[in-house]
Amino acid sequence: MSVSRRGFLRLAAAGAATAGIAGCAGAAGSGQTAELLTSRIPLPQRFRVPLPVPAVKKPARSDATTDYYEIVQRAVRAELVPGHRTTIFGYDGTFPGPTIRSTSGRETVVTHRNELPVPSVVHLHGGHTPAESDGFATDLVLPADRRMAARGMHGGHMLGDIRHGSRDYTYPVKQPAATLWYHDHRMDFTGPQMWRGLFGMHLVHDAVEDALPLPRGEREIPLMICDRAFEADGAFRYPAIDPSLGHKPGVLDEYMEGVLGDVILVNGAPWPELEVDAARYRFRVLNASNARRYRLALEPKPDGENGFVQIGSDAGLLAKPVRHNEIDIAPAERFDVVIDFARYPVGTKVVLRNELGSGPAAEIMRFTVARKASDDSAIPAKLAEIEPLDPARATVRREWRFNRGSVGDHRGWTINGKQFDPDRMDARPKLGDIEVWRFFTDLHHPVHVHLSPFQVVGRNGRDPGRYDAGWKDTVDVRPAEYVDVAIRFTGYTGKFLMHCHNLEHEDMAMMASFETVRP
Ligand code: C2O
Ligand code: CU
Repeated sequence: MSVSRRGFLRLAAAGAATAGIAGCAGAAGSGQTAELLTSRIPLPQRFRVPLPVPAVKKPARSDATTDYYEIVQRAVRAELVPGHRTTIFGYDGTFPGPTIRSTSGRETVVTHRNELPVPSVVHLHGGHTPAESDGFATDLVLPADRRMAARGMHGGHMLGDIRHGSRDYTYPVKQPAATLWYHDHRMDFTGPQMWRGLFGMHLVHDAVEDALPLPRGEREIPLMICDRAFEADGAFRYPAIDPSLGHKPGVLDEYMEGVLGDVILVNGAPWPELEVDAARYRFRVLNASNARRYRLALEPKPDGENGFVQIGSDAGLLAKPVRHNEIDIAPAERFDVVIDFARYPVGTKVVLRNELGSGPAAEIMRFTVARKASDDSAIPAKLAEIEPLDPARATVRREWRFNRGSVGDHRGWTINGKQFDPDRMDARPKLGDIEVWRFFTDLHHPVHVHLSPFQVVGRNGRDPGRYDAGWKDTVDVRPAEYVDVAIRFTGYTGKFLMHCHNLEHEDMAMMASFETVRP
């Protein structure tokens, strides 16, 4: 169910009334801060298309320290929904892009060439990356085709480090094994550009993870879940004010809370089907939606419940596994989970449901348990060493209020009452210090911080929630909540972003910059 305009007002009022009371956030029942956009094609049938698994990208070359990749961003016509042609913006022309696999400690350099008709920016979400390669929203790569290159140059101000045609992004990958992803980050236009397909997985592996007996190979699969809407001719439907994505950012007023589509895609296929062995599988679940939140559940549930064993969060493996019946996942969050299909009789069809959706959006994909098989995988009781960040050792506390507000002459979203200005730094954290950041919200805002991961240390003054374990880089802050995170910035000085990952909010100014400095 989406929140209608009137629903929004009601929810906002309810939020104000419950502000500060733990546990009742989201009790208004909808689970979304967004508006549904419906397709003009008949919705495709569910569970007819096999789950695609994105190709793993091969390095163009490697040397002693570094793997070099080359990706071309292209607009191509693709068949996402059977029988329809959709123009996508894709890394290497695919929706989603290829998966990159890095090894912790080995540098990864990705050369992106922009053959799109619009400027682009690439951000490695969750990457511990120097500022010059982090994809600051104004560090544009202009189209290689120079006739297109004048677009997106906002009247001469707010220009970052601009390149023509291509750019090398250098990732030191000095971070533990984690489920990262890369995506567009062009200022004001990230929502429509990711809607068209500019995202992909970037997995980091390390020796700790390699030594664990987790499912791997064919039984380790990314699930990138997103929702989209389609025009009658198969094109993506998206309520951009300026569909050419040239100058005027934002979406039509009734969609400003966020855009929901009515077609659920996993790895780019609508409601796909996956045949599985009766064995353990490891799924890297990413919510790649612009605004939709999901509550994942298995139907039927395996005997004894707890169908999901979570082994990792956004930024790495957990200290120990956490069992879930359901998983709430907000935009940009990742849950690294194991499902053991041996708990079902062969022949069972298991639907991955979305308990926050109604109608077709209540289902995501289906697994068919096809055959018995041997399985030497296991989920160890101890996964990785996690150093707890002690909030009592914090040197600085900062508050960030995520609220509706006015942005120039129109409505939008603000942080601490201010709209995004790439030239303004809202914080100057010292490298090495622990800080505690408190995020306050009016509605749902999934808050993401670049550069360094954090640990959730409290919600509404109480303990963290059941989805808050481990190293995170995005936290789902529900209506009228506050969440405390402990964060230690390390490694690199420079300008970085923090923002709401509801992409319509982000594009309509709910972003701030901070600059890390030497102590
Ligand atoms: Cu996933 Cu600033 O981004
Ligand atoms: Cu938001």
